[in-house]
Amino acid sequence: AMLTSLTDLPLKKQAGERVTVLTAYDYPTARLLDEAGVDLLLVGDSLGMVVLGLPDTTGVTLDMMRHHTAAVRRGVKRVPVISDLPFHTYDTPEQALASARLLMEAGADAVKLEGGVAFIPQVRAIVQAGIPFVGHIGMLPQSVVLEGGYKKKGKTPAQAEQLIADALALDAAGACAMVLESVVAEVATEITRQVKATTIGIGAGPGTDAQVLVTPDLIGSFPWFRPPFAKARADVASEIQRAVKEWMTDVTAKPAP
Ligand code: KIV
Ligand code: NA
Repeated sequence: AMLTSLTDLPLKKQAGERVTVLTAYDYPTARLLDEAGVDLLLVGDSLGMVVLGLPDTTGVTLDMMRHHTAAVRRGVKRVPVISDLPFHTYDTPEQALASARLLMEAGADAVKLEGGVAFIPQVRAIVQAGIPFVGHIGMLPQSVVLEGGYKKKGKTPAQAEQLIADALALDAAGACAMVLESVVAEVATEITRQVKATTIGIGAGPGTDAQVLVTPDLIGSFPWFRPPFAKARADVASEIQRAVKEWMTDVTAKPAP
């Protein structure tokens, strides 16, 4: 059955039922995905790149996230909504909690931040306030400038051990789910076995409890960049341009009045 509450995630995991997660940033997309039966929506800070035209996610602000979270909230009747805490809005536990509260007020059902062991005080502050929390480890887009690019994680034994430690720490701190981004498939599968939380994979192989995609990658509405693991199942970009050109031909073919 499709998910109606985050509290049902453990039931899905126990039953071995796969969970579907997609990003949404606006009212119509959120409404369409809710009606289609997707289990969870994520107002990701990928917003910055695929909607706002920024070079990476580091320029996304809490105000931007609140604005788009509110639009998504208005579009959904059933599906739970996770919202991303942007770069430098969770540097301390106090700031993390204040930022999380603002996203919840805007309409989120849960919040997500990027990091593992080093961010457990922030995670605990959020969870202890009763705010459902989703982790995010592996390749961390908010660290792209610092790291100098997007890189696969878990290739060396040391990296794999660090990822498992991060996952176990998030699990113990009360995360209900965690994104595993660009993690070596074997490591993602091992984490999935070891944690109670629902693992949400992206570029992390088939062994996670859930899969997430950036919706524009799935529907082909952002054709200028697409990660290799995301198979576009529609070509919305071409369809938009076809309709626009057809209409322009129609308008310009009419004789001037
Ligand atoms: O911002 C985003 O869309 C995300 C997903 C890729 C997990 O964090
Ligand atoms: Na994100």
